[in-house]
Amino acid sequence: MGDTAKLSMAGADFDYPVIKGSVGPDVVDIRKLYGQTGMFTYDPGFTSTAACESALTFIDGDEGVLLHRGYAIGELAEHSTFMETSYLLLNGALPSQAELTDFSRTISRHTMLHEQLATFYRGFRRDAHPMAIMCGVVGALSAFYHDSTDIADPVHRKISSHRLIAKMPTIAAMAFKYSVGQPFVYPDNSLSYTGNFLRMTFGVPAEPYEVNPVVEQALDRIFILHADHEQNASTSTVRLAGSSGANPFACIAAGIACLWGPAHGGANEAALNMLREIGTPDKIPHYIERAKDKNDPFRLMGFGHRVYKNYDPRATVMQKTVREVFAALKVNDPVFEVALQLEEMALNDPYFIEKKLFPNVDFYSGVILSAIGFPTTMFTALFALARTVGWVAQWNEMISDPGQKIGRPRQLYTGPVERSYVPLSKR
Ligand code: SDX
Repeated sequence: MGDTAKLSMAGADFDYPVIKGSVGPDVVDIRKLYGQTGMFTYDPGFTSTAACESALTFIDGDEGVLLHRGYAIGELAEHSTFMETSYLLLNGALPSQAELTDFSRTISRHTMLHEQLATFYRGFRRDAHPMAIMCGVVGALSAFYHDSTDIADPVHRKISSHRLIAKMPTIAAMAFKYSVGQPFVYPDNSLSYTGNFLRMTFGVPAEPYEVNPVVEQALDRIFILHADHEQNASTSTVRLAGSSGANPFACIAAGIACLWGPAHGGANEAALNMLREIGTPDKIPHYIERAKDKNDPFRLMGFGHRVYKNYDPRATVMQKTVREVFAALKVNDPVFEVALQLEEMALNDPYFIEKKLFPNVDFYSGVILSAIGFPTTMFTALFALARTVGWVAQWNEMISDPGQKIGRPRQLYTGPVERSYVPLSKR
């Protein structure tokens, strides 16, 4: 018999099994709690709740550790590619060369969009936020790809997974092209996944486009850093949507909507806007004081994390990548210096130290994306592009779990108890 957690209340004792994972916190299995006690647990924001079992990604927030199928994010960022990391997340093992070639070729064969989807873009204003377009177009994919929406069929699940991973760069690039009034550029599958995306975004039909290998590698690494991240808000949204049996395109569209929030994936756009608003290092102390002021809603965007109470390992790689891209592109944007000094001051401020607030993945990413040429409005769309493989892998893991059931949390009700209706004439 393994460990148990004992709950004593109303004169009775209840034992709940403690389940051990391969690493990280154990869990108390309270699935029988309501049936035995008539009570719910209460955990708004799920700060102490494991909503599922997963073998995909492990985070140790205190140590600043992030593993994908056991491989440290720093090693994957250094040695892997986004296609290889995608294969790893989906299949649980690093691919052989033949497996990687086959996977990359399969993905590249799904990069084109149904031609009618291009007309969806013309329904948006030119200044529509790319995330609004991504929500709409990805949700609409289920209207075009009926032949891969039977979630009970593993072949359908595989095809729709590949379609989503392959088409996100095309959809995101088209959102950018539409916003600048340039023609859509079709995929060129002789290029890498990330090179193809760069060409669809920055290439024009009027002249050849040369992929810059330094930019290609930096962006591919940024995609790796954003691929998956345990049960974050948007992944939990995808899982909850998927638990009702909704088709994968609709589930990913729900994840995109959740990611858009500035507390989550929208923080990269907000962080760069904040750095630009600060403008020069002498203004930093004023903004740090604002971030500490409880009466001021301002927060340091790109700082803090629900899980990391140490440096986000992705931010470490991101900062190193800024230096590489700036050197390669001979960029000298003062915003990087503002970011470095802001980090330095915040990490030495008692408020941030006491609350264990460190830079997260979003703090530096915008500096690089801006240097590459993306407008801030595209930053979260790029996050969604990369996170699609994580959402798809998590969705597949949930759907293929034989014990899977619809997610249906309960509540602590604090509204009025039953009362009789009062006719209008008596009110
Ligand atoms: C992502 O979950 C994931 O894994 C997400 C992600 C992923 O890959 O999927 O990692 C991507 O979303 C990264 C986070 C990006 N968001 C931001 O950078 C926005 C700024 N950060 C915060 O809003 C906040 O830190 C959160 C939302 C990220 C985390 O919030 P929590 O865990 O709910 O913590 P909290 O809001 O309760 O904050 C704890 C305390 C509070 O002070 P007290 O009420 O205890 O006095 O810290 C303070 C907060 O006011 N605080 C900040 C702060 N973040 C938290 N104060 C100033 N600036 C900040 N950035």
